[in-house]
Amino acid sequence: MAILPILCYPDPRLHKVAQPVQTVDARIQALVSDMLATMYDAHGIGLAATQIDVHERLVVIDVSEERNEPLVLINPEIVWASPDKHVGDEGCLSVPGIYDGVERAAAVHVRALDAQGQSRTLEAEGLLAVCVQHEMDHLMGKVFVEYLSPLKRNRIKTKMLKQQREAHE
Ligand code: NI
Repeated sequence: MAILPILCYPDPRLHKVAQPVQTVDARIQALVSDMLATMYDAHGIGLAATQIDVHERLVVIDVSEERNEPLVLINPEIVWASPDKHVGDEGCLSVPGIYDGVERAAAVHVRALDAQGQSRTLEAEGLLAVCVQHEMDHLMGKVFVEYLSPLKRNRIKTKMLKQQREAHE
């Protein structure tokens, strides 16, 4: 297992659209292990392959208190979204230190392959539903700050670029 570097907003690679995983093989399973290690190391609740500069439809999630319920979603598709919406504060490992409210479907059903290549349907609500939708956006090249006003987004962009410059000094 390896801890992989996470791309930081506004890195243009975060806007690439991921391609479907062709086969759940040893390469994908190794990637899943690395992504889980990277997510736990960064104290995140979700990580999309896009964030580690791999542009395949692969997401890992763990919203449990104990950090021992890893979820692997390969080629996830939302098959149902509740009409009722919920606004919750979101953060992102690619936008460190920024939290803001985003409106999402309150519940979703997601069909995906697991790490063994088995098709499963996940029924998600609450934090898990938020996390699934947030990570699936990453696969489409979308970062949560894009839901915010242009003014807020520009302020965040400036702040991130300043942090990144300072980190390199
Ligand atoms: Ni994120």
